[in-house]
This record gives sequence, structure tokens and C-alpha cells, in this order.
Amino acid sequence: MKNFSHGDLVIPRLGFGTWKLKGDDAIDAVKIALDTGYRHIDTAAIYENEKEVGLALKEGGVAREDIFLTTKIWNDDIERSRIADAADRSLDHLGTDYVDLLLLHWPMTSRPIADQVQELAEVKKAGKARAIGISNYNASQLTEALDACPDLACLQAEYHPELDQDPILNVVRNADMLFTAYSPLGRGDSLKHQVVKDIAEAHGKAPGQVVLRWMIQQPNVAAIPKATSREHIEENFDIFDFELTDEEMKKIFALVEPDGRIIDPDWAPQWDTGVAA
Ligand SMILES: NC(=O)c1ccc[n+]([C@@H]2O[C@H](COP(=O)([O-])OP(=O)(O)OC[C@H]3O[C@@H](n4cnc5c(N)ncnc54)[C@H](OP(=O)(O)O)[C@@H]3O)[C@@H](O)[C@H]2O)c1
Repeated sequence: MKNFSHGDLVIPRLGFGTWKLKGDDAIDAVKIALDTGYRHIDTAAIYENEKEVGLALKEGGVAREDIFLTTKIWNDDIERSRIADAADRSLDHLGTDYVDLLLLHWPMTSRPIADQVQELAEVKKAGKARAIGISNYNASQLTEALDACPDLACLQAEYHPELDQDPILNVVRNADMLFTAYSPLGRGDSLKHQVVKDIAEAHGKAPGQVVLRWMIQQPNVAAIPKATSREHIEENFDIFDFELTDEEMKKIFALVEPDGRIIDPDWAPQWDTGVAA
């Protein structure tokens, strides 16, 4: 339950997201997360906090090999075939020789998908990433990427109770990859449903804990909630001492909305249409 295995990789199914955490807030939050027990940390070049994340990892007192560290290559470096250089820059900022998972942040339409993932695979071959994956691909792009590079271990994409991700979850599960859910709390909005509050009360838990538990009880799914305060960071990690029933899982699945997506920038691909749309 706590980990997902892929080959010789062991990936904690609850990680810590760092988007929007900057400067001392980023250092403090990552240190609190390590102190709480998180061993999976998610950052990206575009978050402009890799140096702070790296510093927190150095000062956090946890051995590097016990941490699962993910970063992501930003779009212009993917478009201009600079993935290897961008990876070196990230490693330099993070103060480490390797990341555990290196993702392409978004699919770029200006280059064939096969070229993008094969260029990424070279970074793994060079020993600078233990595993590779992609983020924000749709189901057909993921299929194309897997055809060119069956070695992809992870797809990271938006997922929370309001958003149906079944089409791409099916592709991920068939390939025995990990689906890492970003914005797993719906950026806070998923905690407001009465159904979630009622289930939380029945278990003596908080609404956020119910949503995160719902996530990790699904096959091949991990979640990377972001939080700033110690209270939220600790609360989000305390989800391994209770279990949702099938009935409760279904009630949360029923919260899906046709327009439940939150993150949809101009450069996003044509998203898959879920059953709710
Ligand atoms: N690959 C991509 O394109 C992509 C896109 C988006 C996000 N991500 C990754 O996914 C991570 C998580 O997504 P996210 O940051 O968008 O959203 P999220 O984790 O769903 O939600 C974060 C928000 O929820 C609040 N929160 C956290 N714990 C809470 C709790 N226990 N009770 C009440 N509120 C709580 C946080 O407040 P406080 O901060 O004030 O505690 C923050 O406002 C990111 O940090 C990033 O690492 C990746």
C-alpha cells in the first residue's frame, strides 16, 4: 500500500509537491516533510525552487538513497533538443548526481513524441536518472511514447475526485506504470464536498486525508499533495491507519464533474474525454 514497485524502483505512493513554494518557505516545508516521514519529493525546473529543495535534502538528515526525488524538464528545453543540458542544470541546482525520476513536463507538438522520449532515455542511459517518465500527455500521446520507449515508468497528470482520468489510467495500468496524481486535493476544492466531510467524520479523519486515501487505494496511483504549514504537511501524511470501504470509494468517484479540470494552459494537448464529459 505504501509503495509502488516498478522493476527495481520502489516509489512511495504519497509524495510531497513543491509547486509555488519558494525561498525559505520551500526549504522549511521540505524539511518538515522529511521530518514527518515523506520520502518522495516532487519539483521541476520551472518551479524555480530546485536549489532550495536540494538544500533542504542536504540539511534534512535523510540519506540520499532513501529519498525518491523527481524533477521535470521545461518546455523550451524539450522543444530545442536540450534535454540533457537541462537535466545537468537541474542536477547542479539540486546538488545531486542523479534524480530518481526525470519527467518531460508537457508534450511539445513541434517535435515527434518519439524523439522527445528517446532524447530523455539518453539521460537515463548516462546514469543521471534512475527512471524516466512524462507529464500531461493524453492517452494517444502516451501510447505513442510507450511505442518509442517502453521503459517509461511514470505518467504524472492532474487527478482529483472532480476529474475523470479513466482513459489514460487504463493505458498506464496496462503498461504497469505509475500514475502520479498532481493537484490531488483539487488545490483545496476537493475538501469542500459534504460527502467527503461525512466520510471523514465517520473515520475520525480530516477531508484531505479521505481524498488522499481514496487516491492511493486505487491501483497504480500515487499522490503528491503540496502544503505549506506543518499542520497540513503532517495531516496529509497520516493516511495509513484507516481504509475506505468500496461504498465510500464509489461515493467519491461519483463527485466527478464534466468540467473538473483545473490546469489547462494554452500549450496543453487535446485532453481525453472521460465518461463524465
Ligand atoms: N506536472 C505538472 O504539470 C504539475 C501541475 C500541478 C502540480 N504539480 C505537482 O503536484 C503538486 C500538488 O499539486 P497542487 O500544488 O497544484 O495542488 P494540491 O496539492 O491539490 O493542493 C494544494 C493546496 O491545498 C492546500 N492544502 C494542502 N493540504 C491541506 C490540508 N490538509 N487541508 C486543507 N488544505 C490543504 C494547500 O494549502 P497550503 O499550501 O497553505 O498548506 C494548497 O493551497 C504540486 O505542488 C506539484 O509538485 C505538477
